[in-house]
Amino acid sequence: MHDIEALVRQMSLEEKAALCSGATPWTTKPLARLGVDSITVSDGPHGLRRPIEQADMIGRSIPATCFPTASALACSWDRDLLREVGEALGVEARALGVHVLLAPGVNMKRTPLCGRNFEYYSEDPYLAGELASAYVEGVQSTGVGTCLKHFAANNQESERLSISAEIPERVLREIYLAAFERVVTQARPWSVMCSYNRINGTYASQHRHLLTEILRDEWGFEGAVISDWGAVDDRVAGIEAGLDLEMPGPSPCNDRRIVEAVRSGRLDEQALDRAVTRILALVERALAQPGARDPARGLQAPEVEAHHRLARRAAARCMVLLKNDGGVLPLDPARLRSVAVLGHMAVAPQFQGGGSSRVQPTRVDVPLDELRAAAGSVALTYYQGYLESGEPDDALLRSAARAAEAADAALIFAGLPDGVESEGYDRLDMELPPGHVALIQAVAAVQPRTVVVLHNGAPVSMAGWIDRVPAVLLAGLAGQASGGAVADILFGRVNPSGKLAETYPVRLEDNPSYLNFPGENGKVFYGEGLFIGYRYYEARGVQPLFPFGHGLSYTTFSYGQASLSRPSIAPGDSLEVQVPVTNTGSRDGEEIVQLYVRPHRSQLPRPVKELKGFARVALAPGETRPASFRLTIRDFSYYDPERGGWVAEPGTYDLLIGASSQDIRVQATVVLTGGVLADTRLTAESSIQAWLDDPRGREALERFVPDEVMRRYREQPAVMRRVLRNYPLKKLPHVTGGRVDEATVQHILQSVTR
Ligand code: BGC
Repeated sequence: MHDIEALVRQMSLEEKAALCSGATPWTTKPLARLGVDSITVSDGPHGLRRPIEQADMIGRSIPATCFPTASALACSWDRDLLREVGEALGVEARALGVHVLLAPGVNMKRTPLCGRNFEYYSEDPYLAGELASAYVEGVQSTGVGTCLKHFAANNQESERLSISAEIPERVLREIYLAAFERVVTQARPWSVMCSYNRINGTYASQHRHLLTEILRDEWGFEGAVISDWGAVDDRVAGIEAGLDLEMPGPSPCNDRRIVEAVRSGRLDEQALDRAVTRILALVERALAQPGARDPARGLQAPEVEAHHRLARRAAARCMVLLKNDGGVLPLDPARLRSVAVLGHMAVAPQFQGGGSSRVQPTRVDVPLDELRAAAGSVALTYYQGYLESGEPDDALLRSAARAAEAADAALIFAGLPDGVESEGYDRLDMELPPGHVALIQAVAAVQPRTVVVLHNGAPVSMAGWIDRVPAVLLAGLAGQASGGAVADILFGRVNPSGKLAETYPVRLEDNPSYLNFPGENGKVFYGEGLFIGYRYYEARGVQPLFPFGHGLSYTTFSYGQASLSRPSIAPGDSLEVQVPVTNTGSRDGEEIVQLYVRPHRSQLPRPVKELKGFARVALAPGETRPASFRLTIRDFSYYDPERGGWVAEPGTYDLLIGASSQDIRVQATVVLTGGVLADTRLTAESSIQAWLDDPRGREALERFVPDEVMRRYREQPAVMRRVLRNYPLKKLPHVTGGRVDEATVQHILQSVTR
């Protein structure tokens, strides 16, 4: 290990500047004179994308295991699984000579149309943050680093390199930064990748408030900040703001700009030294890990096998049984003679999206083959049903429908074809290809036992067919082994247990970002504020197609009463909550139990309820086990931009525990004591109502406003009093016809500020 401070002292200005950009798209610069080696980074997130040619940004990559995408993994709500997948990714990274994996991505799903939603976890920052933390811990436990991305507010691909996300501070903190905060403070990723976009006018790559004040000063991040590939705008401003490494490299012009800025006095050399120190620390740390200096050995056959099995197990835990009327699933080979397997995706499954996350899989399970292997004596017939492009074709449709009619059941493979979901652009709508819809409709008309298997990484519209089919399995983009997992679930070898990590709206127009996406004139206003995802649908009473947290099982669960470790909670306390869950059906199963917090009242508007805990409970038939949660004061808090901090208001809170955001089974209350009450900031502009609501304000009014005026006010009709209460304090002289003068207003104000 080098003494980094000493190294920096020995480096020339030019050497320092040069270190601030990579040597190639995937490596840092070595500095042979001082014995500094280089490290290799690689995408991410659901598998290794290690280009065969070091100089290639895209192009062919070395085969690696393609695990379920983040959108799928999130539906597992399974921290242990995320850790396990993370470990496997770490092992593959090491085998391919990679020191830092460019993952995970924890941006929020603001709109179903974002092309990269499949790379992200959720519309809820708690869920995304918890799962990504487990992933980071898993990868880093193998001595490989992670790079948490894309920091921040990269919630659309449209104009992603220039758009300014216009977001109020409270919304940033509670929604768009919260998952980053959780991962940084909980799992300590080695590095963070700044995003392409601007936030409130300033590029993320030179956003001091984000990269230094929040990330480092508040959250205690000690690693390096790396630019997204090509995200640097003003390199010198970036160094000042806290951006350390520019990628891809090399970037000789920007290196020179850094040198010139230091020479001309525009850039303080200490800021450069800080960046250089952090890059060196990352390099040193990466190379100090066991095996880090070994040449890439490639993936070995046993690893390939073991990771494929893990990918299959993971995929099965990610899939969500959205609908299963009349127990159509699982298919029982003993009772079926023939099943029609329909749709081109049954032989060419969609299991990942496009862009920099695209993995060259080690192999791919074909659903039709896997179904055949699982079907025993059941005769399976396959018909393509639609064109490869997704377009309808009469002849294909007719033969598929005929086969469906003649069979005992039909399985339709549908979803979003390759190229629809990708980095670099957003989807245009939420529709399935017309050929898929036509196939589902035609088959549903002739076969009552129709099961739709969906391959998509973000919500699709199901209007026009959802009421006509009894069963839908969301297979998602579940990686190279998803075909096997689908067969396992359809034939009941695995009981589905995934739940939605995002709301499925009925129509795109119902989505809260609809009127403010993708923005105009270079800006996108996050007009829905805190109310993204279920926070919006609940507040507005808009019924979604499938709510956040929804997912069915082949068994049933009942919930007992909640027990709390304490009736009240104060700062510094932790509250343990337990709910016994019983498997009341006849199969082994796992239930994902969710805990939401609902404040009774609050000085600032808040969502109806917010997810603050979840637990997976595995149960044999008849078995009961507790789902356990741990809450701290932060789980009850909101961010108050006026105070510049998190506020936990004293008062009563409901704990809502259930099977989905809309299927609450158990309720308990807890009292928060000793928290920080947001001061009602009583000013001359505050309304008379606000003054009357606050004990100190009311006392001041009663003390200084003449009794006569108070009496006249009370004698007003109720509607008039409502009008008057809306006036700001400073208008008292006006509304009282001068009976309260300006000096009195000053006395009132002074009495609360003192
Ligand atoms: C993507 C990143 C990725 C990088 C390197 C960028 O275009 O936004 O997520 O890590 O390329 O491939």
